[in-house]
Amino acid sequence: MTDQPIHVIHENPEWLPPFERAFAVRGEAFVDLDLSDGAIDLAAEPPAGLFYNRMSASAHSRGHRYSPEYASAVIAWLEAHGRPVINGSGAISLEVNKAAQLAKLKRAGVPVPRTVAALGDARVAEAAKLWDEGPVIVKPNRGGKGLGIQLFEDAREVVERAAAGTLQGSIDGITLLQDYIATADGSVTRAEFIGGKLFYAVRIDTGGTFELCPADVCAPEEAEATGGPVFTVVENAVEPAFQASIERFLADGGIDIAGVEFARDAQGRPFVYDVNTNTNYNPDAEAAAGVSAPQALVDYLIRERNRRLAAPKVAAGRG
Ligand SMILES: Nc1ncnc2c1ncn2[C@@H]1O[C@H](COP(=O)(O)OP(=O)(O)O)[C@@H](O)[C@H]1O
Ligand SMILES: [Mg+2]
Repeated sequence: MTDQPIHVIHENPEWLPPFERAFAVRGEAFVDLDLSDGAIDLAAEPPAGLFYNRMSASAHSRGHRYSPEYASAVIAWLEAHGRPVINGSGAISLEVNKAAQLAKLKRAGVPVPRTVAALGDARVAEAAKLWDEGPVIVKPNRGGKGLGIQLFEDAREVVERAAAGTLQGSIDGITLLQDYIATADGSVTRAEFIGGKLFYAVRIDTGGTFELCPADVCAPEEAEATGGPVFTVVENAVEPAFQASIERFLADGGIDIAGVEFARDAQGRPFVYDVNTNTNYNPDAEAAAGVSAPQALVDYLIRERNRRLAAPKVAAGRG
């Protein structure tokens, strides 16, 4: 099997240990494909094996401004050579583009908050002038870790801030103006899908913050002490028709693994506002529930590698 290794595409080594441990449990090594830099020779055959893409939209916040663009190039090359890529080109294109996520979610029948994607502050102001009364969110189209999310009591404030040039921008120049989903209890839900199927859902009691990265390394002790977000694995949090619509969206988009975030309004209706194709799992929530998504994910990768690449490598006669 070692001639068909599993490669992990990423740019943040800090997020790898849970997966390293899960590979070790199965006695399997993986190839670390860190795309914080690199070069590929397009005339060359890519290495053999199965590839798993964990490139993150927030790469720029770790000094890797162009790693997602580079990952797109690498993934296109791999796919052109027929290499199986888990979370391939479909995933990387949505990871860095919330507007595309929302458009495709809606098309698959998944409810999403009303959103305008605007290029430039003048267009943000125009949209904000016409917005209904009530709270509104302004967020970068290329998001990650809750960075740059701004909540306003009313869209009129957004008009003023846009005119003053004091709105936080997005790395891709596109700003989203979005209805704020006011929840009854301040919690949101993150549903984790592995192999395109729901694995579990976690309730996130946000504690008022928008920075909700579930990974252990994202929870500095001060944040925990001051009551940062709390993650709990919950049962029956995704009703069957809603789950089916999200699974349809994932299948249509060629996305195998994703954390899909949604909030429920006062009437309990869910709205999906974020899809994380690079997803991290909260170890405390998993320990309390006795489940391991990293293990399920690694087992899925091994199964897919064995299923898709089990046949002997291309037979004789190849040039
Ligand atoms: N439309 C919304 N209504 C209510 N809360 C929202 C909305 N959009 C974002 N949030 C809050 O902000 C957090 C971060 O927003 P998100 O779109 O997930 O960005 P990121 O990609 O940075 O995680 C969410 O987890 C949620 O708590
Ligand atoms: Mg999010």
